[in-house]
Amino acid sequence: LTEQQINAAGHLTIGGCDAIELAHKYGTPLVVYDVSRIRDQIRRFKKVFEANQVDYAVSYASKAFAAIAMYQVAAAAGAHIDVVSGGELYTAIKAGFPMDRVSFHGNNKSADELAMAIHHHVGVIMLDNFHETDLLSQLLEENDAKIKVMLRITPGIAAHTNKYIQTGQVDSKFGFDLASGQADEALEKVLANPRMEMLGLHAHIGSQIFELAGFEGVADKLVEVASHWQAKYGYQARVINVGGGFGIRYVSVDHPLMPEEFVDAIIKAIKTAVAKTNLDLPAIWIEPGRSIVGPAGYNLYTVGSRKDVPGLKPYVTVDGGMGDNIRPALYQAEYETVLASNPHAPIEEHVRLAGKYCESGDILSQDQGLPATKPGDVLAMLDTGAYGYAMASNYNRNPRPAVVFAENGHDQLVIERESYADLVHLDRPYEQQ
Ligand code: LLP
Repeated sequence: LTEQQINAAGHLTIGGCDAIELAHKYGTPLVVYDVSRIRDQIRRFKKVFEANQVDYAVSYASKAFAAIAMYQVAAAAGAHIDVVSGGELYTAIKAGFPMDRVSFHGNNKSADELAMAIHHHVGVIMLDNFHETDLLSQLLEENDAKIKVMLRITPGIAAHTNKYIQTGQVDSKFGFDLASGQADEALEKVLANPRMEMLGLHAHIGSQIFELAGFEGVADKLVEVASHWQAKYGYQARVINVGGGFGIRYVSVDHPLMPEEFVDAIIKAIKTAVAKTNLDLPAIWIEPGRSIVGPAGYNLYTVGSRKDVPGLKPYVTVDGGMGDNIRPALYQAEYETVLASNPHAPIEEHVRLAGKYCESGDILSQDQGLPATKPGDVLAMLDTGAYGYAMASNYNRNPRPAVVFAENGHDQLVIERESYADLVHLDRPYEQQ
């Protein structure tokens, strides 16, 4: 938190809006994004490429937070997006996102999803496996269409991160294997298909990565493959996409590099590796999700019940939990939380911040230092913008929270709070026959 984020009343502000007022106006739990931070991060990534004078795309990995409003912001900021489902693609279409800037990822895209991508002239399909390559080929034939493709390869690099969010190691469900020759075979199929325009190659090594080594490794690997393809097939890759995964700081013990430092190192690694080959420098694409929206998001909660047992750390319970942020329960993810009415108030106790869901594992924080709190106080959990609302559920039939965009002192509802009626909207009574 910066000093500018505390207003005259001593309250936390988000995008220039008083967090307490937002909580009163929209209710809690509430997700709030500081939109200028999103725009800023996209701009900062672009600046690194421009300073290095390379052709590039900053492709926002929209799985981190997908909403019509978010796609509008990404479009206005000049970003590309990556989508991983028909649902994300549909949302982007509804947002009017320029389809030529969309990459479609996924390890099991359905025929319907691929057909949707063809009909809407999606920029590039990230081919992941042979089944999909054949399916796409058939659909292109049926629709008498053409499309750009990239091949996703498994680079054989294990990033140092939670095993559920590693993706680049050899034993991964994503992408074409290299050592067994599958990537070559896939390229042969694509080059032989006049309906597919081969754009380049892609790899993604994981998420919430703090160190450079994995990115430099993947840069080297992709250039090596591109050079091998040039020698063997005379094919010159036009794009090298190194994926996303740039780590962000959630708690004080986290010391990731700045997102821009990762990108600068990736560009240099690719340039250096390419200089040792006969390749022309391809365009460099990145796919950050977390680093674009994570630090811009806040979850506001209201304090309710409390449980004190002598000798045990107290439980302070809020009105949300694993339904709006599954990450602590799923990945033991840690966050920092402050009292929104006085973010710098001295810490008086360490508590377990519990959620309201009927499950012992629904603890948002195992150890949060806070001033004394009472029911009705508003807490702000910081850096919740990535994979928070995006992974929200209706567990226990709790409605999902509202999402507000705040910028320059203005707040605007961009996703309504679900109602109880929404929860039963798709239910149908059972009539015993
Ligand atoms: N590109 C591809 C192909 C990906 O699979 C991902 C993330 C990204 C880009 C963006 O990675 P980022 O820059 O956001 O780290 N739910 C987990 C994270 C799953 C990431 C999945 N893929 C979490 O909450 O930590």
